[in-house]
Amino acid sequence: MSTNLIQLGDIRKVYTIGGVTIDALAGVSIGIDAQEFVAIMGPSGSGKSTLMHILGCLDSPTTGTYVLKGRDVSGLKSDELASIRNRDMGFVFQAYNLLAQMSALENVMLPLSYANRTVNVGKRRAQELLERVGLKDRMKNRPVELSGGEQQRVAIARSLMMDPSILLADEPTGNLNSIGARQILEILKELHGEGKTIIYVTHDESIGNQAERVIRLKDGLVDAAKDN
Ligand SMILES: Nc1ncnc2c1ncn2[C@@H]1O[C@H](COP(=O)(O)OP(=O)(O)OP(=O)(O)O)[C@@H](O)[C@H]1O
Ligand SMILES: [Mg+2]
Repeated sequence: MSTNLIQLGDIRKVYTIGGVTIDALAGVSIGIDAQEFVAIMGPSGSGKSTLMHILGCLDSPTTGTYVLKGRDVSGLKSDELASIRNRDMGFVFQAYNLLAQMSALENVMLPLSYANRTVNVGKRRAQELLERVGLKDRMKNRPVELSGGEQQRVAIARSLMMDPSILLADEPTGNLNSIGARQILEILKELHGEGKTIIYVTHDESIGNQAERVIRLKDGLVDAAKDN
């Protein structure tokens, strides 16, 4: 019986398009403990985003087992996966994925149901989250009125709205300069210090090396020789 938060057993993800088969993941077995701070690295096309999608229950593996908090989630239906996502997962993407016509505050409040968005307690939480990522004075700005680093901080605040235990970030610093990247990493480290499990993808060795552990993928497999 494992005490891991996440246990992947021989996960495969096969895409077939126009008769061509791609093994995006070719048998990945990894365990991640609660409150770990893990970087996933590897060349373009090695399966990093595919792995993040499966970890985040955005997608299901073709074969293999995914045990999350002791529960096998690999065969769940999409509505069951959605409820796991809402409860346990926060997502941050390279492209921020903010809604252009909404203010920072409105973007952070998006994960709330429509009913809750009108309740002041939700608004207060969104304000607190924006404050903690250093955007107290930017709450009314729309994404176009924010720098890339600021937009990513809004995205992080939004990912925290439902207080997930696991934060998944796919190249969160990929579009940022070194100052913006450092600020994002500091926030991720702080969240890790508060007990969240953080898993992030990066191409940048200096950013990957700040994790407690680096998992390296190559051709859809964990590059065991390099896994530390
Ligand atoms: N929806 C899809 N349909 C078909 N093939 C896909 C799909 N998603 C990914 N792939 C293929 O699976 C492989 C792994 O892709 P993935 O996006 O996981 O790589 P990655 O490591 O995240 O790369 P990058 O660093 O460029 O983001 C690639 O060969 C890709 O072309
Ligand atoms: Mg990717």
